[in-house]
Amino acid sequence: MASPPDEDPLRARLDALERQAELGGGPERIAKQHEAGKLTARERLDLLLDPGTFTELDKFVMHRSAEFGMGDKRIPGDGVVTGYGRIDGRQVFVFAQDFTVFGGSLSGAYAQKICKVMDLATRVGAPIIGLNDSGGARIQEGVESLAGYADIFLRNTLASGVVPQISLILGPCAGGAVYSPAITDFIVMTKHTSYMFITGPEVIKAVTHEEVTKEDLGGALAHNQKSGVAHFAAENEQSSILLTRELFSYLPSNNAEDPPVIPCEDDPFRAEESLRTLVPPNPNKPYDIKEVVRAVVDQHHFFEVHEHYARNIVVGFARLNGRPVGVVANQPTVLAGVLDISASVKAARFVRFCDCFNLPLVTFVDVPGFLPGTAQEWGGIITNGAKLLYAFAEATVPKVTVITRKAYGGAYDVMASKHIRADVNYAWPTAEIAVMGPEGAVNIIFRNELAKAPDPAAERARLVSEYREKFANPFKAAELGYVDEVIRPEQTREKLVRALEMLKDKRQENPSRKHGNIPL
Ligand code: HXC
Repeated sequence: MASPPDEDPLRARLDALERQAELGGGPERIAKQHEAGKLTARERLDLLLDPGTFTELDKFVMHRSAEFGMGDKRIPGDGVVTGYGRIDGRQVFVFAQDFTVFGGSLSGAYAQKICKVMDLATRVGAPIIGLNDSGGARIQEGVESLAGYADIFLRNTLASGVVPQISLILGPCAGGAVYSPAITDFIVMTKHTSYMFITGPEVIKAVTHEEVTKEDLGGALAHNQKSGVAHFAAENEQSSILLTRELFSYLPSNNAEDPPVIPCEDDPFRAEESLRTLVPPNPNKPYDIKEVVRAVVDQHHFFEVHEHYARNIVVGFARLNGRPVGVVANQPTVLAGVLDISASVKAARFVRFCDCFNLPLVTFVDVPGFLPGTAQEWGGIITNGAKLLYAFAEATVPKVTVITRKAYGGAYDVMASKHIRADVNYAWPTAEIAVMGPEGAVNIIFRNELAKAPDPAAERARLVSEYREKFANPFKAAELGYVDEVIRPEQTREKLVRALEMLKDKRQENPSRKHGNIPL
């Protein structure tokens, strides 16, 4: 039996150091952290990881600074808890910034701890999850701290597309510190207790005279709704962490693995009768595309990503016959599902994530085209729309597309059309695949006839109806093989499951090159 710690000076020292590291900034600061509605770094890791699986590294690392009275302020661990553990039995690497120690600020030594777990994660092919709660660069350390950030940014960049990287923002994340989360694949923010900004309210006031609160400037809703920087806004830390565990369940551990398949408890060929009548007969009436998505996926469960941003396009994860897939869908209830700058960028990044990590893409199309207007043109809809086109075209994962209604103009090409290497393209009988909508088409091609017609309104209605009959349907595209099959809506789940099963061993490579030049 081991001797009691106090009888062996070395073991007593070990115990004392461990206790000190585990206490972080001490009981008072822990109480302050709790009062602010926040958990400590260790409490967060306890919630995130399977019980008893956390192995800590560098628990005794301390900063090397002696400036500004720092020489006698040294706490083992130095404000960040790092190591590895498991989520649902799968290995992950973690770092949790500890705000109770020097405000979670980043020193050179602290950065080295983070870099060590990042290096291990990329070497063994396991995801990195960062829990951020920090006052930024440790002011007393100056350039050593800036160098530490850059070391982390470099690793974020090199790990991108190799292992999934997820950032939780659970407190302040300001200044250049934001760029580590920004490079990662997903950012989860917690309402009311987290914020991200490059420059805070005081600097903004001094420079631009704008007055804004921290929350309005860079809180969870600001970044989920306005900037699109963050992908999730959780009510509190517990739900942030649970949400992260669920997100992780759809992802492979690295780019060489397939996403984890689970047994499917839903009939893979379930016919969904509600889809027969979901698309309204009037093409100008909206319907909720999420109803379509939920109807066809396993257990009707859709894990939406970026829910509050660019709601005219919907992206997220689901399973089909137990296999994770990435879903991209135009949303007719918001701006008629039109593609604009934000929607294009949102979907492009999601498509690229799925392609990095072997998640098949299932795309639902109901898109009237790109949003017209000077704001869009001057904002660069050309470059930004091209991002989505590029992302879909470049993706080599299985791609299955379902056109439920409109697929007009350039947006038809962009939304995972056959021409940019979608593998299987379905259309519902309600699909309208044409250069533009019937009204627009008639106005252009029959301009002269309409001007001369004795009753232009009646003539327009007749021509619109004729155009709709001839072109606003899926049959021409099916005749050309651009649509592989016109399917009955209720069969969609079965068709998707069969297509993905057929494609499960798909192998496709792009030409060898250093990297393409996506229109960033
Ligand atoms: C050193 C810091 C610190 C920092 C906070 N602390 N931030 N110590 N470097 N960056 C310390 C505080 O001095 C305090 O110590 C303790 O942490 C808790 O901080 P409080 O201010 O009491 O907490 P709170 O009121 O909750 O305010 C949190 C805060 C504020 C908003 C984050 O501390 C703050 O504004 N800090 C400075 C933020 C900053 O300017 N960071 C540099 C950004 S530039 P004591 O011992 O007094 O309790 C940057 C560049 C990165 O990060 C560049 C990368 C390329």
